[in-house]
Amino acid sequence: MEKFVYCSPTKIVFGKAAEEKTAELVKENGGTRVFIIYGGHSAVKSGLIGRVCGILDEAGIDNMAMGGVVPNPLVSKAREMAEAARAFNPDFILGIGGGSVLDTAKAVAHTVAAPGHDVWDFWTGTKVEKTIPLGAILTISAAGSETSNSAVLTNDTLDAPTKRGITTEFNRPRFAVMNPELTMTLPKYQIGAGAADIFMHTHERYFAAVLGNHLTDEMAEGLFRDIIKYGPVGVKEPDNYEAMSEIMWCGSVSHIGLTGIGAQGDTPREGDWACHQLGMALSTIYDSTHGATLTAVWAAWCRYVMKNNVARFAQFARKVYGINVADDQTAADMGIACTNEFFRSLGMPLSLTELLGHAPTDEEIEAIATECTYGKTRKIGSFASLDYDDIVAIYNDCR
Ligand code: NZQ
Ligand code: ZN
Repeated sequence: MEKFVYCSPTKIVFGKAAEEKTAELVKENGGTRVFIIYGGHSAVKSGLIGRVCGILDEAGIDNMAMGGVVPNPLVSKAREMAEAARAFNPDFILGIGGGSVLDTAKAVAHTVAAPGHDVWDFWTGTKVEKTIPLGAILTISAAGSETSNSAVLTNDTLDAPTKRGITTEFNRPRFAVMNPELTMTLPKYQIGAGAADIFMHTHERYFAAVLGNHLTDEMAEGLFRDIIKYGPVGVKEPDNYEAMSEIMWCGSVSHIGLTGIGAQGDTPREGDWACHQLGMALSTIYDSTHGATLTAVWAAWCRYVMKNNVARFAQFARKVYGINVADDQTAADMGIACTNEFFRSLGMPLSLTELLGHAPTDEEIEAIATECTYGKTRKIGSFASLDYDDIVAIYNDCR
């Protein structure tokens, strides 16, 4: 095994009624004034926001709650929240929701900690050098933001809106409260999209340019098998505690960086992330659900890049689905078919037409590929490096 550096500082409190520990966790992190961020209505309707505010009140912790974060969260909302938070002067930020809420909470925490800075500064080159401690109460298993070092926002205030991510260790929450029962009110579509995203967070690291860490592979293959087993059960039975708890823990472990460990000499293993980039361009233009964008492009990406390492795709098929076929190409193709069946069982789209509800025109494909390459200025992917023409070919294949 080659050298690596790994750190994941988020304290995880998992299980039924875990949110009752919120005040204790805030206090452990020195919090006395908590700015709470939540989404549309689900966490209010379920009574969770009221309950958490009550728990903080009882512990003598001042708090103020603000909602309105939408899926594919917006810079305009993050700015509004940062302004309100600055006025409240918190020493702790608490996100209650999923990836959209938590990514907004990360943006607000960095902005409040850096007077004179705007939210978008950190997405356009300004280094995050400090932040306000952040905690997460997770209500949807999907993005993995509750433990990840990433945050993704869409800037809706530009002439051409764009969705971008930043990676910094300051994005890691201090704690993540994970009660699977809180996810049982999710619509089936969101459970399916979440399971697809969870699968893809392992996938993006599994199909990397630098490989060669057997334990990392074994862990990744176990994560694939877990979400393939429990994702469809969760979609059918959202009140199945076993399934919803497996999905929840699988979601965090898939994006906590563990399956990204590995290196060749001083070159760290980098994930591929091309499917995520292909999907983010679709979310920018069509506001599509993140997980659904990934399943729509996945098979076309596989077909396009497979020639770079067919044996890797064959290993995936054999270890994840137990496909017992000697020929690598045949095994690899069968692995793609099985994964498409898995995506289908989650209720996810397998093409752009299914995702968007119409077949995109050539002009639309060009616009999506232009967004994906930030105006033809970058390539994406590490398993295979893809330029604008490659990206157009992939979008055409999954049209
Ligand atoms: O707004 P409310 O009413 O709460 O409804 C939400 C929202 O409509 C609903 N929901 C959440 N918990 C619920 C619930 N409905 C009923 N019961 C509950 N318990 O679910 C909908 C989707 O929520 P969202 O937070 O958008 O989902 P997700 O966690 O999938 O987050 C997606 C965002 O995260 C980004 C994506 O790009 C997207 O913007 N990602 C963030 C990452 C990260 N920070 O590490 C990595 C990912 O790859 C991803 O890019
Ligand atoms: Zn994702």
